Amino acid sequence: MKISEVIRILDNLYPKDIASDFDAKVIGDFTCFYNDYDFKKAMICLDITDEVINEAITNDVNLIIVHHPIDIPDPGTSNFFLFPFSTIFEKSFKNKITVYCMHTNYDVGRYGICDSIVKLFNRKFDFEKSENYKNYFMRTFIVNQPTELFIKKVKKIFKCNKVILKGVYKDFINKASIIAGSGGHDYDVCKAYENKVDVHITGEIKHVSVLYASYSNIMLIEVPHNIERFGFYKLAELLNKMNIPTIESRIDTSPYKIV
Ligand SMILES: [Fe+2]
Repeated sequence: MKISEVIRILDNLYPKDIASDFDAKVIGDFTCFYNDYDFKKAMICLDITDEVINEAITNDVNLIIVHHPIDIPDPGTSNFFLFPFSTIFEKSFKNKITVYCMHTNYDVGRYGICDSIVKLFNRKFDFEKSENYKNYFMRTFIVNQPTELFIKKVKKIFKCNKVILKGVYKDFINKASIIAGSGGHDYDVCKAYENKVDVHITGEIKHVSVLYASYSNIMLIEVPHNIERFGFYKLAELLNKMNIPTIESRIDTSPYKIV
């Protein structure tokens, strides 16, 4: 099997047309010099860093499926000079690795990150019956648990010692919503309100969103953006079942720490 054939399978699973409009130019092959080579192993990761490429090399991976887009800045801007071209281009080229990006199409698609994350909270969640369409990032589930216990569960699932509580503190939670990654916009809180949830879990919650949550009697649990990586397991499982050896990156690429 060629690398290009695996990419075709990924394209079918997560078509570009379910990606959000802002993503249009960054979904797909980032480096594709070796797509006609025999496929060896895939690795799903959140970000491309030097460490992640080394991890791929060590594990004999020649297809990196990266979630976060690699958006090359415009030449002439200061970001252009800071962009790690050598890390991504040279190392992947020298080691015959294809880098392929799936972002919001992978978020919303079936067996994607949103589905896989909600499954961690809701054992009854059925991947086959999931609704999967463009820009549909929020998933809801029934909790019926005192807040204290639920927070412990959130920390356990996402392996974090601390979470940040914002908005209105509730003693008991009936229903929750979650958006892995960056789901802390004001319109996300409005969506949570429409879904009649007590708590919304996400990363990168803006100040104005906390105000919205306060008006809407919603509690917000802020978790690190990188909890998205806990949603990689389903695609890895699916590809392995299709005899496409796939591993998940073990490297935490989060650029910040909560202490
Ligand atoms: Fe993300």
